[in-house]
Amino acid sequence: MGDNVILVGFMGAGKSSVGRLLARRMGRCFVETDDMITAREGRSIPAIFAERGEAYFRSLEEETVRLLALKSGDVIATGGGLYCREGRPEAMRALGTVVWLAGDFDVLYERARRMGERPMLTGRTREEVAAIYQGRETYYRQADLTVDTTRRNTDQVVTQVLLALKPRLTLSSPGRGPGQGA
Ligand code: S3P
Repeated sequence: MGDNVILVGFMGAGKSSVGRLLARRMGRCFVETDDMITAREGRSIPAIFAERGEAYFRSLEEETVRLLALKSGDVIATGGGLYCREGRPEAMRALGTVVWLAGDFDVLYERARRMGERPMLTGRTREEVAAIYQGRETYYRQADLTVDTTRRNTDQVVTQVLLALKPRLTLSSPGRGPGQGA
């Protein structure tokens, strides 16, 4: 198994902010799959959705998953839908420890609506987004570890992730445990 830490979860779970802080605390590099996609495409995620559609974006995610095989020891934040495809949980677990940043749907939905432009929310009712969430939950549940983000700020979530990771990190890579990085 790879030694990356991979954050999965629905929009609004805080994967980017938690990932950035987690990487800093662990002394590791931080990578975002959405950033890999925008860098390769030279345009934003909303622009990709608007100009080429969701199916094209999903094909870029597919390619990104293949590129992730080159990563080691990184903290990787994934886009909310990347993990939720046939075979993805297995593919991602091969790259490292998968952590689901979970939370109450309503809290996630409100956070997602407030922050950033999210094409998956555009033109959809709350009920339609809830249906997407329900379809994805069975995938998220296959993560190695789950941390609830509902009543926690970024700092508190990072602390919980580090606690959850601790037994695995000490077992798999002595000397690179939480708090021992830069
Ligand atoms: C998506 C979530 C987004 C981004 C894209 C599609 C999704 O990432 O990958 O807009 O399908 O849930 P965040 O989860 O960081 O918002």
